[in-house]
Amino acid sequence: MLVHNNKIRFILSAGTLGELPPSPGKEYALLGRSNVGKSSFINHVCANKYLARTSKHPGTTVCANLYGIAENLFWVDLPGYGFARTTQDEKARWSRLIRGYCEERRNCAGIIWLVDSRHIGVAMDREAFTWLASLKKPVLPILTKSDKLTRREQFEQRKLFAEEFGAAGEPVLFSVYEQESRGRFWQRFEQWAGV
Ligand code: GTP
Ligand code: MG
Repeated sequence: MLVHNNKIRFILSAGTLGELPPSPGKEYALLGRSNVGKSSFINHVCANKYLARTSKHPGTTVCANLYGIAENLFWVDLPGYGFARTTQDEKARWSRLIRGYCEERRNCAGIIWLVDSRHIGVAMDREAFTWLASLKKPVLPILTKSDKLTRREQFEQRKLFAEEFGAAGEPVLFSVYEQESRGRFWQRFEQWAGV
């Protein structure tokens, strides 16, 4: 296993792309709708509930937060897309940050794309998917909050995901309330990222 919990660390928060320092290695972004569970995902897979700030209220992550995951491996937690209840200025800044990071960050090696397993195919995710495809970067899809679904529903939602977003690849079924999710994710991540 490449990741050792005691080496994972929060590095800094950047409000603009220019404030994000170069990092020496591969970086992966966490992208998804506001409240989909990006920050909770980081805490769960890193087995540290204090790493990223989470909340039941959407719009919690307002900066690009850089984490050191292992030697030469970094993640960037981004604000979510689709959060309406904030100022126009703030929405514009988030959008510049998300787009700017994914489109311009030189060592961004891929995108971990989180989609709520209960709501496959909503307009915001369709839009994001079209844009993601245009970036031509590797995408690893994660279906979050799978604990909210029965086994049967999980099966149905995976099928729906394949129909809607099949080109993004096979998603990892994920819940912060399931310990196996952690190992399932790391196994896929290591394969996908080649680390
Ligand atoms: P923003 O920073 O606002 O973009 O949100 P986020 O995507 O970082 O979401 P966050 O991790 O803050 O989680 C949002 C809410 O979803 C919180 O109330 C979490 O407890 C809840 N949540 C996250 N993951 C899961 C999950 O696997 N299952 C369930 N049931 N709830 C979850
Ligand atoms: Mg967040």
